[in-house]
Amino acid sequence: HRSAPSSQELLAIALDVARAAAATAYRMRVEGVSVAATKSTVTDVVTAADRAVERQVLDALKQLRPDDAVLGEEYGTGDTGPVAPGGVRWIVDPIDGTVNYLYGLPYSAVSLAAEVDGVVVAGVVRNVSTGEEWTATAGGGAWRDGVRLRCSGETDLGQALVGTGFGYAAGRRAHQATVVAGLIAHVRDIRRLGAAALDLCLVAEGRLDAYFEKGLGAWDLAAGGLVAAEAGARVAGLAGRPPGPDLVVAAPPALFAPLHDRLAELDAAGGP
Ligand code: IPD
Ligand code: CA
Ligand code: CA
Ligand code: CA
Repeated sequence: HRSAPSSQELLAIALDVARAAAATAYRMRVEGVSVAATKSTVTDVVTAADRAVERQVLDALKQLRPDDAVLGEEYGTGDTGPVAPGGVRWIVDPIDGTVNYLYGLPYSAVSLAAEVDGVVVAGVVRNVSTGEEWTATAGGGAWRDGVRLRCSGETDLGQALVGTGFGYAAGRRAHQATVVAGLIAHVRDIRRLGAAALDLCLVAEGRLDAYFEKGLGAWDLAAGGLVAAEAGARVAGLAGRPPGPDLVVAAPPALFAPLHDRLAELDAAGGP
């Protein structure tokens, strides 16, 4: 049993690694990107940059923290073993918002989080295009570029700007469309911005009032979920379940119940 470094120490490592990773993503975008392969469906694309950035993160972590475990979108656990008791696991989304990245839309990010004993304790999300950087540590608050963040004070679902996203898994989008169709008349408006980690960071600072999505991976949620929660948002699934692949809802406490209940009525966690 080893004792893990403090959340602040883990955040410092995450920041160094994520900044270098974002610089690589930026440079590769300038040089020009194209689709390298498709994954679950033809809309589920991966570029050379997704792979190169994750490889760079894995290599950097191996240098700095050789005994830690990792989980990444493109390479899974890489060549790391299982996480030891009391050990650290890093969770990386090398490019969140790959479709935006591919099209040159300035809304994609590197997301890197550190987990100790299955609990995310530090996270950073860095926008590749703008350099905006959100960080959080468990109990230490959520920050953007040195400014402490609070989620919105909106209490009325009818006045809420709600972000969401659509997964790539086969058949999922038809059901997601019915959920959006059932929600749109009950909110101020809906945004599908295209990068879940950034959407969660926008909830942290009230640039979105709330966000929900079915089908997220751990790498989409880890860092941004901590940022949102540390800014005062409730981040959970349906019916008291933890947030996960079934559904993630992130909303200020007063907005959580009305959004949650509407999503439950619409069976937002259902379908493929
Ligand atoms: C995707 C984005 C998108 C969300 C999808 C994710 P990727 O991540 O976060 O906004 O709707 O569910 O898979 O593939 O661009 O890293
Ligand atoms: Ca992807
Ligand atoms: Ca992602
Ligand atoms: Ca990704």
